[in-house]
Amino acid sequence: MLRAAVLVALASCIAFAALPDLGYPQWTCDSSLFQKSKKVPTSVHGVRFADIKVIGALGDSLTAANGAGAPKGDPLAVILQYRGLAFQIGGDKSLSEHVTIANIMKLFNPNILGYSNGIGSANVWEISKLNQAIPGAESGDVSGQARALIQIIRDHPQISVKDDWKLINIFIGANDMCAYCGNNGTGGNHAKANFKQNLINAVQILKDNLPRTIVSLTGMFDMGMLRKIDHDKYFCDGLHVFECPCEKNRGFTNDDISAACHLYMDAEQEIVDSGIFDTTDDFTFVLQPFFNGITVPPMKPDGEVDLDWFAPDCFHFSQLGHANVAKHLWNNIIQPVGMKDHKVNLSDPTIPLRCPDTSCPFFRTTKNSANCAAYYHE
Ligand SMILES: *[C@@H]1O[C@H](CO)[C@@H](O)[C@H](O)[C@H]1NC(C)=O
Ligand SMILES: *[C@@H]1O[C@H](CO)[C@@H](O)[C@H](O)[C@H]1NC(C)=O
Repeated sequence: MLRAAVLVALASCIAFAALPDLGYPQWTCDSSLFQKSKKVPTSVHGVRFADIKVIGALGDSLTAANGAGAPKGDPLAVILQYRGLAFQIGGDKSLSEHVTIANIMKLFNPNILGYSNGIGSANVWEISKLNQAIPGAESGDVSGQARALIQIIRDHPQISVKDDWKLINIFIGANDMCAYCGNNGTGGNHAKANFKQNLINAVQILKDNLPRTIVSLTGMFDMGMLRKIDHDKYFCDGLHVFECPCEKNRGFTNDDISAACHLYMDAEQEIVDSGIFDTTDDFTFVLQPFFNGITVPPMKPDGEVDLDWFAPDCFHFSQLGHANVAKHLWNNIIQPVGMKDHKVNLSDPTIPLRCPDTSCPFFRTTKNSANCAAYYHE
């Protein structure tokens, strides 16, 4: 406790000192895209971005944003959860300084509720708000996070569970993968089938309890990429032993890790394709697969890995990493299902933050991607 307190004090003195970031002060889209529906939509397939009143998130340390504001050379600060910078839900800054899904959503609805501010853990409401991600969490823990989130939403006097449209962003799987190789490549209880069932269980709990909800899953990434980050960097290599013994296990080759990650990606796609979460008109589940095909870490023009993207442990994202990931996640969110990028170039800083399609101004779902006109009432 004491050590954590000292670290917080230290970090508050030096955090943000000179860490690079990514924001879009000039971002504009057609003004029609920022309007709410004339009446609160009843179909999940006709929800405009401005109709979304509540944002939440579930996941692990990548959603708790461990280390995102850690000063360079201070790996101890990776224990700090910089939730206010988290790509899925951080609200510390505005989009002009730092991209997150929440900071983008604020432009559509300045009163959106649920985004995180500051540094702290999931049980500190003032910091975390509806970000219930817990460092170290595996897929089997997401159901518990979902229950905690539902309870907080129910108890909140300003949220109407029944009437308010909610966006819940989930990113999970890295810690499952870290345990996977301990089972000789079979995955054991981290095998694909278990991962898939854990996800289904968690999303089903959300569906059973949260009407008017869009669940947006950030698809699994290829962790073979990690070894390319710490290649020849003794300092980072040592830290990975602690964080991910599987990643360090040289008997489990890059190809093995990559194949196992792709099994998880397949599981996620199978859940979408099954349609099990598209049986009612007030709930849906969408997969954002932009990470799937990425095999190389972000590089600098000189061919070196761009460590500005990463926290001092070379595993978690820095604030710049969070902002860049958020940019690609948003660009994926606004693409129709079936036409979403399964791979993006993390090294290309010229990729813009895109605008939703004026001809289908809704949060893209399986059904409005097949036939948008059916949900267009204006
Ligand atoms: C993995 O395989 C090796 C060699 O066959 C064996 O010695 C080890 O006990 C196995 N580990 C597990 C967790 O099954
Ligand atoms: C990604 O972008 C960088 C920077 O623009 C470029 O050098 C590289 O060739 C691109 N990679 C691919 C695979 O297109």
